[in-house]
Amino acid sequence: MFDAAFLEHLQAIAPRLNALMDRFSEARVLVAGDLTLDEFLTGQVERLSREAPVLILRHEATRQIPGGGANAVYNLAKLGAQVKAVGLVGKDEQGAVLRRIFESVGIDTAGVLLDGDRPTVTKTRISGHARQSVTQQIVRVDRKSDAPADPDLQLALAAHIRQQLDTVDAVVCSDYGDGVLSAPVIEAALQHSLTVVDTQIDLHRFAGATVFTPNLPEAEKAVGYSIGEGNLLQAGADLLRLTQAQHMLMTRGEEGMSLFSRDGSQQSIPAFNRTDVFDVTGAGDTVVAALTLGLIVGATPIEAAMLGNLAASIVVRQFGTATTSVLEMKAALRNLIEPGE
Ligand SMILES: Nc1ncnc2c1ncn2[C@@H]1O[C@H](COP(=O)(O)OP(=O)(O)OP(=O)(O)O)[C@@H](O)[C@H]1O
Ligand SMILES: [Mg+2]
Repeated sequence: MFDAAFLEHLQAIAPRLNALMDRFSEARVLVAGDLTLDEFLTGQVERLSREAPVLILRHEATRQIPGGGANAVYNLAKLGAQVKAVGLVGKDEQGAVLRRIFESVGIDTAGVLLDGDRPTVTKTRISGHARQSVTQQIVRVDRKSDAPADPDLQLALAAHIRQQLDTVDAVVCSDYGDGVLSAPVIEAALQHSLTVVDTQIDLHRFAGATVFTPNLPEAEKAVGYSIGEGNLLQAGADLLRLTQAQHMLMTRGEEGMSLFSRDGSQQSIPAFNRTDVFDVTGAGDTVVAALTLGLIVGATPIEAAMLGNLAASIVVRQFGTATTSVLEMKAALRNLIEPGE
C-alpha cells in the first residue's frame, strides 16, 4: 500500500492524530455552499410500457442524502463539529427535506435561505433491477437553474455570514458553481482568519483564503497545463501565486494528495487505501471537512491533510456521497498501522 518508511512515520504520529480527533467536537464551523440534494430512486422491473418502448419499474425505495456543498456540511456534522450552514434552497419539497436532514443532526440552518425563483439543486438517479439481479442506473434527472441568485438574496447571505463570523472557528466555502458563492458572499466569508475553499471554478475569486483543496482536474484548469510528477512543484507554486493562499492541498485521486505551502515546502501523502474503492464521489468534501477540523484544533497543515486523507480512505469504500465519524477514523488508523491484524 505504501512503503515501510511511511508506515513508520504514520505509527509515530498516530497518537497525535488520535488526540486531535478527540477535539473535533469543540470545533465550530460555518459553511457557505451550494446545497444539493442527491436522490436515489430504485425499483424492480415489471414489464415494458405500452405507451413507449420503456421499462416500467415498481417503486421500492427512495433515498435522499446531502450532496455538493451540503455534503461538506453533513460531513463536518458527522465528524462531531458544531456546524452552521449558509446557502439557498428552493421553495420545494427537496429544500424541506435537506433542511430536515440537517436539523436531525443538529446543524444550524438559520443561514439556509429560501430562494423563490430557483429550485433546490437536486440530482435524481433512477435505477432498476430485474428479479434477483443487480441494480443499475437508468437515467439521472437534474433540477437546477442557470440564472444567478437574486442580488438581494446574495446580500442577505453575505450579511448572515458577517453576523456569524465571531461565532465560528473557520469558514468553509464549498462552490459547485450553482451561484451561492457570489462576490458579496465571498467577500464576507474571507473576512474570517481561517478560510478553507473547495471550488470547482475560478480559484482566483477567493484570493487570500487560507487553504484551497482543488482536485487534479480543477488544479490543471487553474494553471492551464496538465500536471504530473515532473511539474508538481511548479504547479504548486503557480497555484499559490494565483490564489495568494497560505497552503494548497491538491487532491490527486488514487495518487493521494500533495500539500504546498508559502514557505516553499511540498509534501505528498499516498492514498491510504487503494483496494475496496467503490465510489470516490464526494471524497473531496470529506477531505475538506476533516482538514478544516484538524486546522481548528491545532493540527499543522500536514497533520490536517493526513486527517483528510484518512477520512477520505473510509468514504471511498461506500456507495454515493458518504460521511464518516471519529470512531471510524480511529479504527481505520489502527488498521493502517497494524497491518495483518
Ligand atoms: N481511487 C482512489 N483510491 C484511493 N483513494 C482515493 C481514490 N480516489 C480518491 N481517493 C481519496 O480521496 C481524496 C479526494 O479524492 P479526489 O481527488 O477524487 O477528490 P474530488 O475529485 O474533489 O472529489 P469530489 O469532488 O467528488 O468530492 C484523495 O486525496 C484520496 O485520499
Ligand atoms: Mg471536489
